[in-house]
Amino acid sequence: MMPGLVLDTYDQSERNAMADAMTVMEAAFDPVFGEAWTLPQLAGVLMMPGTWLTVARVDAAALGFALVRSVLDECELLLLAVDPAWRGRGIGEALLRDSLRTARRRGITSMNLEVRASNNAVHLYEKTGFEYVHRRPGYYRGNDGQLYDALSFRIDMLA
Ligand SMILES: CC(C)(COP(=O)(O)OP(=O)(O)OC[C@H]1O[C@@H](n2cnc3c(N)ncnc32)[C@H](O)[C@@H]1OP(=O)(O)O)[C@@H](O)C(=O)NCCC(=O)NCCS
Repeated sequence: MMPGLVLDTYDQSERNAMADAMTVMEAAFDPVFGEAWTLPQLAGVLMMPGTWLTVARVDAAALGFALVRSVLDECELLLLAVDPAWRGRGIGEALLRDSLRTARRRGITSMNLEVRASNNAVHLYEKTGFEYVHRRPGYYRGNDGQLYDALSFRIDMLA
């Protein structure tokens, strides 16, 4: 893991943690695809039991975050993002592996996710052990009006 990287997990809509996640959110997602969430969306999902937010920081500066929602023994990676200036240093992978460890500790046995097919994050998911499940043609509509395919991935943590 990157030296000095600290990962903190929050189970509730804690104000500072959400503000940190929003700072990364605004920098990380290309507006063309309309994938960034708003603060009310983030706060809303964190009010649901079984949802957690993990913030990656170095020297108290927020560089990335992961958002996971669980129901019973399954969970879904809702968002994963790293500040563009800090990419390619293993922060995304550290957040993803930490989310998997947190899920396992909570008795969760599988993690699902959906990602735009053209997103480089696909490499990260495959590298971490996620398996391709299916493709949904034209599932996402970007702010440019264009349709983008989604890919579903799943990791079975009992395997
Ligand atoms: C996806 C994202 C979180 C990756 O964060 P990151 O900190 O750069 O990722 P890491 O440095 O841990 O990279 C891990 C692996 O991901 C892959 N990867 C990451 N960025 C990549 C890129 N631009 N091109 C190709 N592969 C890439 C590589 O396989 C890399 O492994 P390697 O270093 O052994 O080659 C980051 O690019 C991001 O915030 N993207 C925008 C938000 C987004 O689309 N999130 C995913 C959907 S919610």
